[in-house]
Amino acid sequence: MRKKLAVANWKMNKTRTETQQFCQELRQALEQLHGTEVVICPPYTYLDLIAEQMGNTSVSWGGQNCFWEEQGAYTGEISPLMLRDLGCRYVIIGHSERRQVLGETDAVINRKMAAAFQAGLIPIICVGETLQERENNLAREVVKEQLVQDLHNLVPASHGLVIAYEPVWAIGTGVNASCDDAQQMIAFIREQLTNLYGEDRAASTPILYGGSVRPDNITEFMAEKDIDGALIGGASLDVNSFITIARSIANV
Ligand code: PGA
Repeated sequence: MRKKLAVANWKMNKTRTETQQFCQELRQALEQLHGTEVVICPPYTYLDLIAEQMGNTSVSWGGQNCFWEEQGAYTGEISPLMLRDLGCRYVIIGHSERRQVLGETDAVINRKMAAAFQAGLIPIICVGETLQERENNLAREVVKEQLVQDLHNLVPASHGLVIAYEPVWAIGTGVNASCDDAQQMIAFIREQLTNLYGEDRAASTPILYGGSVRPDNITEFMAEKDIDGALIGGASLDVNSFITIARSIANV
């Protein structure tokens, strides 16, 4: 059986005090969340605080990005080894905001994936089409190409791989994909994984949906057979809405 995941992507939000408050409230709700792995991806600057606050709980944490080298003259970058040092289990790679705003290419994402595996992190790789690509019937082709290039020459380490299907037009817009469209694309992604790595690996890789996930729409997504959880942006900032979403994922 595949594990289920509720992953909070805080992006560039929250203060230290807010992070602490969030952790306190989340700790009190953990008993309701058995059945899903809860992962918090805060800005780098709060990873130490999350480690301190959540260290003896079932919650995991991860970076929102990393560089592809272990160390060296790369001003401003953070390496996968540094994330490991802070107790991270996961790292988000290839988020559409990094692709679109920071200009990350599939070649760069491929190097970051390799570095993350090498460091023993579980990469959560994000793929998804723009609105224009969807309207031009190119969504599948685009997602397939991202997967092929981002995973080029990589064999997922035994500790794992997570994929997040995040249609760009659904991120932060309040307009989520229909659960039917999400299911179809995620089943398609599983097919691509089968082609790349065989059936067993494809069947055991968690694939998440992301893009305007909220407490009032998560249950529909989780009713779909290939959707194993969610990558949650805006709705993960409020601890109660995040707990409600995580509870719905846990209870499927
Ligand atoms: P959103 O963001 O939930 O605010 O749409 C999701 C994401 O970017 O991972």
